Amino acid sequence: MFRDRLDQAATAISAHLNHVLAQLDNVPVVQAMAHATNGGKRLRGFLVLETARLHGIDPAAAIWPAAAIEALHAYSLVHDDLPCMDDDDLRRGLPTVHRKWDEATAVLAGDALQTIAFEMVTAPQVGSGEIRARLARSLAIASGAQGMVLGQALDIAAESATAPLTLAQITALQQGKTGALIAWSAMAGPRMAGADTAPLAAYASALGLAFQIADDILDVTGDAATVGKATGKDAQAGKATFVSLLGLDGAKRRADELVQSACEALSVYGQDAEILRDTARFVIARKN
Ligand code: IPE
Ligand code: IPE
Ligand code: MG
Ligand code: MG
Ligand code: MG
Repeated sequence: MFRDRLDQAATAISAHLNHVLAQLDNVPVVQAMAHATNGGKRLRGFLVLETARLHGIDPAAAIWPAAAIEALHAYSLVHDDLPCMDDDDLRRGLPTVHRKWDEATAVLAGDALQTIAFEMVTAPQVGSGEIRARLARSLAIASGAQGMVLGQALDIAAESATAPLTLAQITALQQGKTGALIAWSAMAGPRMAGADTAPLAAYASALGLAFQIADDILDVTGDAATVGKATGKDAQAGKATFVSLLGLDGAKRRADELVQSACEALSVYGQDAEILRDTARFVIARKN
């Protein structure tokens, strides 16, 4: 049931992204954008669609921010994989953009994926001017120097830190690098409806951390063929992760506790939020 819903959402989001990109000239940077948006679990877009559904938003409107966050996430991955960042050759089982094309194309494809995300989130189909402005402003905040970019900067800085990061520092790092976009996704529904975002903010805060812990665990326990990206990279690069601090078992326990908190945060929604509880359980059980 959950898997079917996620697959359906992924198909709809991919179709929407392909449709939007097909309007652009068929030049290498656009081909690179299409390559970068291909595949992936579509977890962030799924959170947009499900929280929108929970608030009675028309799926034809919600598909725009769902596709937008996946474009923005794809940009963050293209840049994350660059030689000056994590220097990765494989992403979603395919060569990274800078390997298939070159670094300049990867930088520019990332830039254009970021701007097209804002184009999509402000599309007329999304709703009133106020709703579109609210989504765009919150997306800018989540993506930039107090959100994802800040987390990425802290992540890179930690590689050359002299002392290991504390639990509080790792939590702050991960809240930025992964948490901010996941939180934006989960709050998109109430934001579009003009409803209270607090319960989903609490849900997403726990979910985002659990998600990144699972990513860190997969880097240690997964194999590249299943995960779709190189593994063993975090320890090699001296990355600060929950696994490096708490060990594998400690990290797994922390992820379990976070899933519990994420589910509890949904109590105001009752049974209607069961799919979001399944989502929380999925993020720590996933194999890629
Ligand atoms: C990977 O995100 C990068 C992180 C923020 C940990 P996902 O695991 O959601 O990647 P895709 O989109 O499914 O490929
Ligand atoms: C990447 O984190 C987070 C963002 C792209 C914002 P990681 O570097 O851990 O992601 P993977 O493991 O390469 O997917
Ligand atoms: Mg990284
Ligand atoms: Mg990386
Ligand atoms: Mg990782």
